[in-house]
Amino acid sequence: MKDFTVDNLTDEVIKAYTSKAGSPRAEQIFRSLITHLHGFVKDVELTEAEWFEAIQFLTATGKKCDDKRQEFILLSDTLGASMLVDAINHPKGGAGTESTVLGPFYVPGAPEMPFGGDVRRRHLDEAKPCLVTGTVSSSDGKPLAGATLDIWQTAANALYDVQDPSAPEWNLRGRFKTNTDGAYALVTEQPVSYAVPTDGPVGEMLGAAGRHAFRPAHLHFMVAADGHQPLTTHVFVQGDDYLNSDAVFATKEKLVGDFKACDDLDLGKKFGLEAPFVRLEFDFGLMAS
Ligand code: BEZ
Ligand code: FE
Repeated sequence: MKDFTVDNLTDEVIKAYTSKAGSPRAEQIFRSLITHLHGFVKDVELTEAEWFEAIQFLTATGKKCDDKRQEFILLSDTLGASMLVDAINHPKGGAGTESTVLGPFYVPGAPEMPFGGDVRRRHLDEAKPCLVTGTVSSSDGKPLAGATLDIWQTAANALYDVQDPSAPEWNLRGRFKTNTDGAYALVTEQPVSYAVPTDGPVGEMLGAAGRHAFRPAHLHFMVAADGHQPLTTHVFVQGDDYLNSDAVFATKEKLVGDFKACDDLDLGKKFGLEAPFVRLEFDFGLMAS
């Protein structure tokens, strides 16, 4: 038997987790996790009170999660871990549209909507009607018919439907398909900037660091087509005050879209909108799988 000390414990723990690990990848992950976790504890010389506070923080994070709230994703997002995973797995410079974080508010199974369908399931006075159109192509430029676009966003009151008991189900969410030309169209309202939830442990963490909780206005897209890599991304609103200080580090220059005023009466009529309305045109490119 051997007494464990600050100097020998890390090596012993690594040995215990790697000598019979199920695969080289598992071995690599255990080794790195233990090295960095122990390195952190040694670096800051964690006190017992701080260790217990960390345990309480993680416990509170888990307790805050349910089918509508994902505090662990929010924790990962606000610490920049989600964007690091995104950057490693989707390096810049590819031909397709750039990706960004999923966030905690995606809900699978949104209603399927026709070309030009309207995802506003109620009308708030302050909401600005918005027509979104564009195409989905393969990264070689070939239009993709039958591609799926799953979209979601906050309402003009800065809340997602799942945060707002007064919102109708599936408000500002829908699944669209491109037509034979690879084109899509949908009617929504112009997204607004909003604060990520601060009524849980992540809010306390942001406060402790003196950080604000705001995200620049954006529309979420999940785009998929047969034979192509699925894309999770946003289109941000040009000119937003928070483009340079996103609480979750998820902005990218090429994902900023021009939501501009449009007074085309005929176009408005085609989609059931009174001019003037807001218009975004944004094309997506998917990488072949
Ligand atoms: C979102 O855009 O929905 C989001 C992303 C990360 C954290 C919180 C919200
Ligand atoms: Fe969002």
